[in-house]
Amino acid sequence: MKIKEILLSACALFAMSAAVASPPVYLDESKPLEDRIEDALSRMSLKEKVSLLHAQSKFSAPGVPSLGIPELWTDDGPMGVRPEVLWDEWDQAGWTNDSCTAFPSLTCLAATWNTDMASLYGKSIGEEARYRNKSVLLGPGVNIYRTPLCGRNFEYFGEDPYLASAMAADYVRGVQSNGVAVCVKHFAANNNEANRYTTNSVVSDRALYEIYLPAFKAATVDAGAWSLMGGYNLVNGQHATYNQRLVNDILKGEWQWDGVVISDWGAVHDTKQAVEGGLDMEFGTGTDGLGTKGNQYDNYWMANNYYNGLLDGTYSEDQLNDKVRRVLRLTMRTAMNRNRPWGSINSPEHHAACRKIGEEGVVLLKNDDKTLPILKDRVRRIAVIGENAIKRMTVGGGSSSLKALYEVYPLEGLQARLGNEFDIVYERGYVGDTLTFYNNVWTKQHLDDPRTPEQLTADAVKAAKDADLVLFFGGLNKSDHQDAEGTDRLTLDLPYGQNELIETLAAVNPNIVVVNISGTGVAMPWLDKVKAVIQGWYLGNETGHAMAAILAGDVNPSGKLPYTYYASLDQCGAHKLGEYPGTPRHDPVEGDIIDMHYNDDIFVGYRFTDKNKLKPTFPFGYGLSYTTFDYGKATIDRKKGTADDTFTVSIPVTNTGDREGSEVVQLYIADLKSSLPRPVKELKGFAKVNLAPGQTETVNFTISRDALSYFDDKAHQWVVEPGKFEALVGASSADIRSKVGFEIE
Ligand code: GLC
Repeated sequence: MKIKEILLSACALFAMSAAVASPPVYLDESKPLEDRIEDALSRMSLKEKVSLLHAQSKFSAPGVPSLGIPELWTDDGPMGVRPEVLWDEWDQAGWTNDSCTAFPSLTCLAATWNTDMASLYGKSIGEEARYRNKSVLLGPGVNIYRTPLCGRNFEYFGEDPYLASAMAADYVRGVQSNGVAVCVKHFAANNNEANRYTTNSVVSDRALYEIYLPAFKAATVDAGAWSLMGGYNLVNGQHATYNQRLVNDILKGEWQWDGVVISDWGAVHDTKQAVEGGLDMEFGTGTDGLGTKGNQYDNYWMANNYYNGLLDGTYSEDQLNDKVRRVLRLTMRTAMNRNRPWGSINSPEHHAACRKIGEEGVVLLKNDDKTLPILKDRVRRIAVIGENAIKRMTVGGGSSSLKALYEVYPLEGLQARLGNEFDIVYERGYVGDTLTFYNNVWTKQHLDDPRTPEQLTADAVKAAKDADLVLFFGGLNKSDHQDAEGTDRLTLDLPYGQNELIETLAAVNPNIVVVNISGTGVAMPWLDKVKAVIQGWYLGNETGHAMAAILAGDVNPSGKLPYTYYASLDQCGAHKLGEYPGTPRHDPVEGDIIDMHYNDDIFVGYRFTDKNKLKPTFPFGYGLSYTTFDYGKATIDRKKGTADDTFTVSIPVTNTGDREGSEVVQLYIADLKSSLPRPVKELKGFAKVNLAPGQTETVNFTISRDALSYFDDKAHQWVVEPGKFEALVGASSADIRSKVGFEIE
């Protein structure tokens, strides 16, 4: 063979080997993401494109097998990774290796007012989702707490859009740092569980842009959420999950968001609406899944129905390609990202994170005579009373129900921490909920009790009488009409006769502490008769340890309320002005729906109580400490400026007590004169400072245009009107310690 021929064949071999070595662009992670998407798209058939847009099982969607594009696996939920289900079931599959860390409820995370906790939370839960090989974690929920009756408030970040936005954004960043997508939910104005499939939220643009959308914008635009879930409800007449205004005009239009809109499970009711309304992936539609007639997933609205509409020209392939690009982008960011970390599950780090977040979120609401922390010099015998001292709370509540690896109940935590120093006796007090399993996850508890209510009360009273201190653990739980998906509460009152029992116990022993374990506000008619009150939240695995650390004083409580504690529903705009639970109407297109006019508009939470000069039981942002804090005088770095200037508000804060503690310093802005109605003040900054006894720290807040503007829905833009403003700095929305005026020219 001549040299030339040898060289030519060598070149050919090299070329071939090079061709074999370098993968196609869509698989080459060194190539730009958008180029990889275009390359994959160009290789897909119409059928393959449509198959990407709907589920193939309860929680997964097919990839493109012919191209080696993997399936997309999703799983609940916002507080922990749901145990495995069978292919097309809600019930658990009964695996033995899918227990998880149950992290605290998101309302507890919000109550930390500490974005470092949100980052820690997101990173930790994202590691567990990654370990379980889930590409999409179906959370966080960021819906605003509009009514205390909403069954899913425990899954959300409270009543204020600024606080919810700050906490949600860092949760999102934390989860996605694992190469796991969040699915921020439920977009949008999904604020009650009663009639959740048919409620039509009739809400103004001002309320949307100022109250109900900001947390979604923070999650998608600021934090770059890779997917979002459309809610079951309708918004202004059209289903939220394919709402022209919400999805196409705002989310994908104004916000230019590049992620995937995933329907809530069973939220899709029509092919044309879904396709045109900006939906990208359909899950959970009511078929019998793998029915006798073959794969029922082909009957999804976005399956054969859509495919046929493409073939007959009803739908354009360009529109289809936009959806497919988004799903490919999500898949390449997750399942096809070979550089993702491997995650971890049930690790000591996650259990420590669970406990830390819980300890930082617990809110001390009342502490007369320094009843807490529990000290040996005044207490020998402690009577722990109430069902919530022993009840498993990680099971139940709907899709956020978990199979936690373990759960330390409050009584167990107290016995472990204080059992050697104090006599601790326990009495049930009442029998409320004896739930034993949910979705086939067993609570491993048998809470039945043969005693009559009278006997239960008598036994509790006896224990209370003989004790130096009574710790009452009550509140709500994760069963229907409590803190649970799919139902709202029917009253603001505590269930199971707890109010009467608390008063009875307080009558025999005034040294009583009430620990309210709930994810939402309750009425407290007995407040004046008890010495101390703690808002305990659902704290997950480490409940008992976190609670005991607070009660024993190992940890100084630093949580603040992320929502107003109304004394009655009359103090809440959704009930006072709204038409909760809505007015039935037959709609020619949507059928029988329930109109819920958001007459409270932008006046939600403290915005409503401020405006109407109402005094709630406890205000938004309220929380005590075992130490005390003094605020100096607020100053501003300039008195006049233009809307685009930034101002800095400073205030010294001192720990005037005898022990270390953290204080959440809150900044509210008041626009003293505006052409459209505005709340008296709005939260526009917060900082959590940890101070040693006697230590002073100057807290600085930056005020920019965002902090001053309101949404002018006529002009459809955010405006800052010249005039006088005030920066108000305080320890809660109702405890302003100093304010300083400034002017916008
Ligand atoms: C549920 C919930 C949603 C959940 C989904 C999957 O109905 O509304 O939050 O992620 O279905 O379980």
